[in-house]
Formats: sequence, C-alpha cells, structure tokens
Amino acid sequence: MVVATAAPTQKRLTMQVEAIAADTTAIRSLDWDRDRFDIEFGLQNGTTYNSFLVRGDKIALVDTSHEKFRQLYLDTLKGEIDPANIDYLVISHTEPDHSGLVRDVLELAPNATVVGAKVAIQFLENLIHRPFDRLVVKNGDTLDLGNGHVLEFVNAPNLHWPDTIFSYDRHTQVMFTCDAFGMHYCSDATYDEDLHKIEPDFRFYYECLMAPNARSVISAMKRMKKLGDITTIATGHGPLLRHHVGELTGRYWNWSNEKAQAETTVAVFYISDYGYSDRLSQAIAHGITKTGVAVEMTDLKIADPQEVHEIVARSAGIVLGTPPASGDVSKATLDAVSTIFAAAKDKQIVGIFECYGGDDEPIDPLVTKFRDLGIKNGFDPIRITETPTEATYQLCEESGTDMAQLLTRKDAIKKMKALDSDLDKALGRLSGGLYIITAQKGEVAGGMLASWVSQASFKPLGLTIAVAKDRAIESLMQVGDRFVLNVLEEGNYQHLMKHFLKRFPPGADRFEGVNTQPTNNGSPILADALAYLECTVVSRMDCSDHWIVYSSVDNGRVSNPEARTAVHHRKVGNHY
Ligand code: FEO
Repeated sequence: MVVATAAPTQKRLTMQVEAIAADTTAIRSLDWDRDRFDIEFGLQNGTTYNSFLVRGDKIALVDTSHEKFRQLYLDTLKGEIDPANIDYLVISHTEPDHSGLVRDVLELAPNATVVGAKVAIQFLENLIHRPFDRLVVKNGDTLDLGNGHVLEFVNAPNLHWPDTIFSYDRHTQVMFTCDAFGMHYCSDATYDEDLHKIEPDFRFYYECLMAPNARSVISAMKRMKKLGDITTIATGHGPLLRHHVGELTGRYWNWSNEKAQAETTVAVFYISDYGYSDRLSQAIAHGITKTGVAVEMTDLKIADPQEVHEIVARSAGIVLGTPPASGDVSKATLDAVSTIFAAAKDKQIVGIFECYGGDDEPIDPLVTKFRDLGIKNGFDPIRITETPTEATYQLCEESGTDMAQLLTRKDAIKKMKALDSDLDKALGRLSGGLYIITAQKGEVAGGMLASWVSQASFKPLGLTIAVAKDRAIESLMQVGDRFVLNVLEEGNYQHLMKHFLKRFPPGADRFEGVNTQPTNNGSPILADALAYLECTVVSRMDCSDHWIVYSSVDNGRVSNPEARTAVHHRKVGNHY
C-alpha cells in the first residue's frame, strides 16, 4: 500500500507499509530516483530504506530511514503507532541511510531503549548528541518482547560496518539483516517474487558492499545456521527475501567462499565515520576483489592490536587510509597504526590514501615510513584535495585493481605457462574481430580493446562481449549501462590498438590524443573506426574470470562500406 508521496517537484519519494508476519510491519521508504549510492556505485533502479515494527507486549522498531524521508517517515510511523509507545529501537547498523532519523524518533519516544552492538552505541553517541537509554547486545543475546516474539541477536561485523547485528524473531522466523542480503532496487513489490528481475542488482550490490568482506559474510552465515528456520529476510534495502531465501542466501555463501579461498589477501585499514575513509576504502577494496584477490577490511577506530598484527602478517598487501593527525583520535587507532608499521614486512606492498577528514595525518611521512621499511608502493599515494567525486572513486577502484594485479602477476604468468601446449595452440585457432569498447557514465569514461565479441540475437539485435573481471571498463557495463562498440578497420587499426593496449595509470584519461565524436547514448565514437554500434547492457553472465555481457544494439553506422573488419589471429588460447 502506498501511503504518502512527496511534492511532485522533488524526486519521487514514497512510503509503503506492509504487514509481513504476525505483529510485524514493514515501513519502507522508496527512493525511486536515487542514482548514486556512496557516490561510487551507480544505481539503475533507485533504492529503499526499510524499517520494521514488531508489536509484542512490548514494541520494537528495527532501524529508521534516511533523513530525506523525515516528514514522510515520521508521518507514516505515527499512522501506525503512537511513537511514545516504542519500547525498543533496534539499531542494526548506524550508517545514516538507516539511522538518519534515530534522533527524531527518540524525540518522539524519549523512553525507548536503544538496542545495538557496543560499537553501534558508541557511533550513535557521536551521531545524536543526546542521552539515551541503551542495551548493548552481543551474539546469542535475546530480547523478549512478549506474545511469543523473542528477538535473538547475531553478530555480523563488517556487513557493512563493524557495528552490524542481525535480529531474528523466533516466533515469526523473520530475520532483520539491514545491509546484508539487500539490493538497491526500488519497486512496489515488497518481496523477491521475480528473481530474474532483481538478480543483477542483488549481484552488483554483493560485489560492491559484501565481496570485500567475504570472510565476515561466511562467519555471520555460520552463526545464522544455528538459528531456527528463516522464512523471511527483512533487508534494509530493496525487496524482502521470502520466495528465494534459500537460493539467494546460497549465492552469498558460494560467492563468499570463492572469494575467501583466494590465495592472496590485501589488508585494508580505514577509519569509520572519518572524512571519506570508509567510502574510499570500499572503492579500493572493490577494485582489489575484481581481480580475485581477497580483502580484509579493518576499522582502525576499534581495531584490536593483536588482530591487526595477525591480519598484516597474513596479507601480501596493505592499504591504509590516513588517520587523523590530532584531535579526536582514539588510543585504539594510534595503537593500531603503530602495530601496522611494526608488523609490516619488506615483501609486502602498500597503498596509502588520504581520507579528506579535515585533520588527516600528512601522507608523505607515512609514505616515507613504509619506504624506510623497504616496502614498495602498490599504487601511488592517493591525495584528495577536494570532496571526492565519481572520478576520485574511479581512481580508487583502479588503484586497488592495479595493486592486486601487481601481487598476482607472477602467478598468472606461471599458470599461463603450465597449460597443455597442444590444447593451448588449438584454442588459439579461434579468432575474432578487433573492437574497442568506449563507455561514459557521468564524469567517468573508459575504453578497452576487445576481440571476444559475437552477435547473439536478431530480436532484439544483440551481441555478447566477454570482459575480464578485473578490467576497469567492467564497472561501466552494468545492466542498463550504455556503451559503444567501435569496429576497427583492416589495415587501419594499429595506432588505436597500440593506444588502448597501453597500461593506463589509475584514473588516467583513456581518450587523450584520440579523435572522438559524440553519440546519442553519451559514449564516444572513435573517429577512425570502421563502424560503431550503440549498445545497452541487458544481462551479464558470470563465467569464471570473465563476465559475458549481453547487450542490445540500438543504433549503428559504417563509415566505409568497402572496408573490412580487422581480425585478431592468435597463436595460443591461454591469453589474449
Ligand atoms: Fe545501507 Fe551501510 O548502509
């Protein structure tokens, strides 16, 4: 049921209220047009912020909403209950998209007890600046709301901040998981009826938010398995999981196990809620995981030195966000940073980024300190001189990918040489044309040489392209994205091939010195191409180390009808 709508001049914000189980109501804030999340993740289908009421003898509100929904959300909440009667406000995670209205709710419910993990309560103190009753819970703790509703709490640190808990209602078998198992997908459908429609967003969300924390996903899921049956996963974003709980949680389990088995790990140290540290670190981590290298994220605000020591010792690379130089810097942070330097070894590589927190420790002394330890750069230090933009996040993601490729290059060459040579040569007899994909999304652009391209359908006109998972352009080829496939011309392609085969530094402009023209779909055409095709990504298939990207072809043109397509003849099939 849609119950309220914002003024039509604003972007579309609506509310939905739905009974999802006995005495349990979902209050969903539908943000239809949000096209960016944490800036770095483009969204095709908006998002939702889900909050829940559980009415036993006592009333619990699980999470709130984004502050942009203040009036709509509070009006809707008041339509359901008198907020003064809320006994418990359960905080699954303190990021502002879920906790943005905690202060407002507590003003209406001054007697409510805030329930959360120890870290969440600490974060909240800084967020709402007012006294509140609190109940710190840890894994296995329960809260009896009466009338059969007993909430059991599950520790789920790092999903997506260290503060996360899940809450499982033993009576209704509904599990409230906030970010975990969610997706940025806005629709009137409360549940996951249409798997086909939601699965690209479910996957993309996993890759962006959860993949850097794959080991934490596995740990949380092991704890989940000790609970009873779960009939509904009440997520904080997107539709609730009810029709495909087994299938979708199974995917989380498999994806996370694949990632956790990676032989190489990079430790990423950030400081939650300080400048842009968490978002920048996520973008770097996402770039790393694209290569198959695992990531271990650690929040320096609450890190335990012993744990930091162990993480550094088992990692091949270290990424460090500049800690605050002074002011509100905790002893835990200072100890953790000292431990990183004490545990680091000269075989490791390092990447340092500024957090733009207003009081960053200067980056150069940190760089020098690592250099003095004999530790080489995995990427050039990322200096942030203004509020991060899409281009900054692209730079971070590509820096992460570069660092991980540096760590795995030797192994990749070894594996390449180990393949059966006859098979290898036979496979090399497969040939394809030569193409350059060009894509522009907002202020971020990319270009890549491709040859694994094939027409795939007539109606609609469609083609597939295999794109290695660690390619930068992969981020610009999500479902719904548009790009141009430039067809290279026989005898007139060497200069373009040479240019796009170059190893570009992270964030570099791929089109500098290249003659381009604009298209209808926003991506550039290469002026020297024989033909171009404007495409829209329809779906993506996971094929081990590549994505097969199926796209419809919306428009196209040939510049020289007499010329032929350049062909790529290879000798071996185990690399391009
Ligand atoms: Fe949906 Fe991490 O907040």
